[in-house]
Amino acid sequence: MHRDVERVLFSQEQIAQRVSELAAALSAEYQGRNPLCIGVLKGSVFFMADLLRQMDTMASMDFMILSSYGQGSVSQGKVKIVKDLDVEIVGRDVIIVEDIIDTGHTLAQLMKLLDTRHPASIKLVTLLDKPARREVSFVPDLCGFTVPDEFLVGYGLDYAERYRNLPYIGVLKRAIYE
Ligand code: IMP
Ligand code: MG
Repeated sequence: MHRDVERVLFSQEQIAQRVSELAAALSAEYQGRNPLCIGVLKGSVFFMADLLRQMDTMASMDFMILSSYGQGSVSQGKVKIVKDLDVEIVGRDVIIVEDIIDTGHTLAQLMKLLDTRHPASIKLVTLLDKPARREVSFVPDLCGFTVPDEFLVGYGLDYAERYRNLPYIGVLKRAIYE
């Protein structure tokens, strides 16, 4: 375990198991279709890569970069598009793939924006959900794990761009960000 990590919340094996369950659910739901999976960079990269490789339906991918957190650990409630999609989504089945929903601001604003582009459908799958911190009500269509109100790193999640490549999800020691 990394010395900045207080404890491991989900091991590599637990994550893999849950991701394959989510992939099975999506495969059943999108059978015979070609959904566009939109990953929100950078936190969702490992989840997106693992999830899509386990889906046995067609699935296209695109990415967006949104900024909300900057360098720190507290959301500012404002979301800016740093990189937009490369493709049109009108008439497409869209699946947003997120790492974690915290206050809900990022996803609420992203869903609102994508809705104005008239996709055929739009669903949200998130690996982690931290409902205790919600500021705008928001419920994901699919969720890997509900997590406690602690700052998490690993499997894509960062603190100031560090720890993303830890293979597990762990609780960051408070001393690192306080
Ligand atoms: P929201 O707008 O507050 O829901 O923030 C969502 C984004 O904040 C996520 O996509 C993450 O990038 C980041 N975030 C929220 N909680 C954590 C955490 O515990 N660890 C790392 N990043 C987090
Ligand atoms: Mg994110």
